[in-house]
Amino acid sequence: MRDHSGPLDYFDEAYVKQWASAANAKRPFRSEFFDAFVSELSALHKPRVLDVGCGPGFLAERILTACDVASYHLFDFSPHMIEMSRARLRDFVERAVFHQGSFLDEGWTESLPAPFDAIVSLQTIHFAHDSARVQKLYGELKSILREGGVLLIADRIGDGVDKEGVLSPSEHEAALSKAGFEEIRLVHAAGDLVMFAAVRRG
Ligand SMILES: C[S@@+](CC[C@H](N)C(=O)[O-])C[C@H]1O[C@@H](n2cnc3c(N)ncnc32)[C@H](O)[C@@H]1O
Repeated sequence: MRDHSGPLDYFDEAYVKQWASAANAKRPFRSEFFDAFVSELSALHKPRVLDVGCGPGFLAERILTACDVASYHLFDFSPHMIEMSRARLRDFVERAVFHQGSFLDEGWTESLPAPFDAIVSLQTIHFAHDSARVQKLYGELKSILREGGVLLIADRIGDGVDKEGVLSPSEHEAALSKAGFEEIRLVHAAGDLVMFAAVRRG
């Protein structure tokens, strides 16, 4: 299952703690994205939500505090990230469900209780490593959404030269479209992050 990227080792507890303590200060505009996720999810009635690459649970905490979700599934390959999420979400034990696995493994979606009404992901999609794998990942995410379900992804963006999965906004849109998503919409952009919404129709 372990397939981490270069110098970033999410299986190293010290690195994970350091990442978690710096992430929101390093990118203060992340709070705008938390708000954008909450705003988009607030339009749904008691959704079942999957968070791909949940990390230490910052986004989960914001969503569970602000939105009436039926259940919130947190997926990550890092045991240390899962552990931090568990601690952060101790007030939400009835609705938070944890899943450890890698979205680079074949058949990784099979153990998840699909379909979901919404899938969210923040700063994680680029860990698919290249544009072909990002498109494959989008296809897999579509397969575990219900018809009419929404994908909300915010990720680091690049300049169009595919660098280790850091795609440009137009490459993300193309990958979402090729994966079969419709109603693709840019929700928010700030700093080096951009957020899209896309809907599964059929
Ligand atoms: C940059 S962090 C973002 C964490 C969180 N979404 C946030 O923004 O606060 C990327 C996360 O993706 C997870 N991750 C990276 N590659 C993964 C993979 N192949 N499968 C599952 N999780 C992965 C890492 O463990 C890490 O928690």
